[in-house]
Amino acid sequence: MTASVKNGPARDEVQAHRGASAVAPENTLAAFRAAAEQGAKWVELDVALLVDGTLVVIHDVTVDRTSSGTGSLGGLNRADLEQLDAGSWFGTGFAGERIPTLEETLKVLGELGLNANVEIKQHEHHRSLEQLTSAVQAALRARAAHTQIMISSFDPQALAAMHRLEPELEMAMLWSQVPADWQAQLEAIPAKTIHLHYKALSMGLLEEASKLGIKVRAWTVNEPAILLSFWPAGLTGVITDNPAAFLG
Ligand code: G3P
Ligand code: MG
Repeated sequence: MTASVKNGPARDEVQAHRGASAVAPENTLAAFRAAAEQGAKWVELDVALLVDGTLVVIHDVTVDRTSSGTGSLGGLNRADLEQLDAGSWFGTGFAGERIPTLEETLKVLGELGLNANVEIKQHEHHRSLEQLTSAVQAALRARAAHTQIMISSFDPQALAAMHRLEPELEMAMLWSQVPADWQAQLEAIPAKTIHLHYKALSMGLLEEASKLGIKVRAWTVNEPAILLSFWPAGLTGVITDNPAAFLG
């Protein structure tokens, strides 16, 4: 009998980056709906706090690039965001999209049968890690029971704090490059998943990670050919703007 060689991701290992952000405005409900329409099971989304403590889904520290408004999240409250159009910058068909809260997003994801990789962004205006992580926890606790969650961050302190609050959740350390002491850093969180920029992938890392039972997902890859040699070596999953390309 021949051993099967993995040559692509399983369906539940394709994560729509900021939703299906190739076809809809990133981190909006429209982008999450588009991910579901493409057959994705997971979406990646970014969260941060407004000045009033509302936890919202947005990548940048300002609303300038992805909405009709301007200003830093550290100077805006929820009522300010309700005035902003987060869709027209992407296409006129998306006029009226809003910057959603994590809580409203999780409600919609529950309805769509989607699971969420919640990436915690750390910004200077955040008053404390405790405020940030307890806001994440509160939103997660309001989700539908069938919605699976994983947490990711470039900030190991945020992951460690979330792990203390929600020890059952998968914690994924985000890196652009693999640090020399990567195993020690994961153990300190503790985390058993790496989300790595695809250009930093190597056969050596995948081999070692597989031996240790550590998952490795690659971001942000929109062209499946880029990852072909890495699947048989143990790559776990992909985070992509264009899930359709991987879901065939
Ligand atoms: O989760 C992978 C990716 O989202 C990390 O980078 O800047 O797109 O949040 P960024
Ligand atoms: Mg992200």
